[in-house]
Amino acid sequence: MSVIRTIVLGTGSYLPARVMTNDDLSKTIDTTDEWIVERTGIHRRHIAADDELTSHLALAAARAAIADAGIDPQEIDTIILATTTPDNTFPATAVTVQAELGLYHGAAFDIQAVCSGFVYALTIADTFIRTGQSKTALVIGAETFSRLLDWTDRTTCVLFGDGAGAVVVTGMEGAGTNADRGVLTAHLHSDGRYKEKLYVDGGPSSTQSTGHVRMEGREVFRHAVVNIAEAINESLAATGLTADDIDWFVPHQANKRILDGTAKRIGLPPEKVVLTVADQGNTSAASVPLALDTAVKDGRIKRGDLVLLEAMGGGFTWGSVLLRY
Ligand code: UT7
Repeated sequence: MSVIRTIVLGTGSYLPARVMTNDDLSKTIDTTDEWIVERTGIHRRHIAADDELTSHLALAAARAAIADAGIDPQEIDTIILATTTPDNTFPATAVTVQAELGLYHGAAFDIQAVCSGFVYALTIADTFIRTGQSKTALVIGAETFSRLLDWTDRTTCVLFGDGAGAVVVTGMEGAGTNADRGVLTAHLHSDGRYKEKLYVDGGPSSTQSTGHVRMEGREVFRHAVVNIAEAINESLAATGLTADDIDWFVPHQANKRILDGTAKRIGLPPEKVVLTVADQGNTSAASVPLALDTAVKDGRIKRGDLVLLEAMGGGFTWGSVLLRY
């Protein structure tokens, strides 16, 4: 049976030039490099310059993905930007990217699912493509998460960083089997009962201010390992594939301990897990496309490889996308 598959034509990413190390942080708050490395696996993170906005990061990643895809940008009819740190409350940061790319057709909009944003955005793009709403889409995860941090709160400010990643996806006919290139299955979840475990204590409607990130880390950790494994098993069950079939696991990069625990739970050897958390920290919606681009560009992920994307974040939100690159 012939079906439309959403295939990845190209990937791109961007990291701000400024690097903040754990030792830098230990000069202003009561923390140590040892604590941060042992509990999270993070060594350093990139921080956007004062005049660098989320749209700038998004645009740089988008341009890299378009160049990698080798397409005329005018072919893009949909831009979906996952972010928790938009340039402005409105309009969507995606329309700034659209205008900067010289695109005056199609639709551009933002998606808010915090760290799961890119997995949500890619799933929406896949649905748009398979239903004929879009032919070629640009999907971006971009964050200046540093702007939401309380730099006096050592339980959160050591964890996050800024960055952006993007993919260009398009529709291609497939046979409807697991051998097809493209997205094979995608699964999204949320459960608002847990919204106070990880949230920002401000917003336009509640405080008329941006607010800061607040997190019950241990609680989030506990749910993350369970929810992520559930989302992965769902993707495997939907396709009849097993953990042994997965070539690369490209997870949201929140904490190395969570990723080690998840890989162990589903029976994936550590060498199949793409890890960027050491050098980038948690870049929220940007982390999955940043990790994907890293492993594509360094030659680990090759055409035809089975790649499992996964994320979990505030809301709680979580989900997985299984694709053949
Ligand atoms: O992307 C969205 C999803 N987010 C996540 O998945 C994050 C999930 N949570 C985590 O990654 C971990 O829970 C953290 C890394 C946030 C914390 O690690 P933990 O092993 O759960 O530590 P904890 O919160 O239980 O804190 C242990 C101790 C506490 O001291 P007491 O109360 O035992 O005296 C903290 O005050 O570590 C202390 N602590 C720190 N010490 C030095 C907390 N932050 C720091 C710090 N430096 N930066």
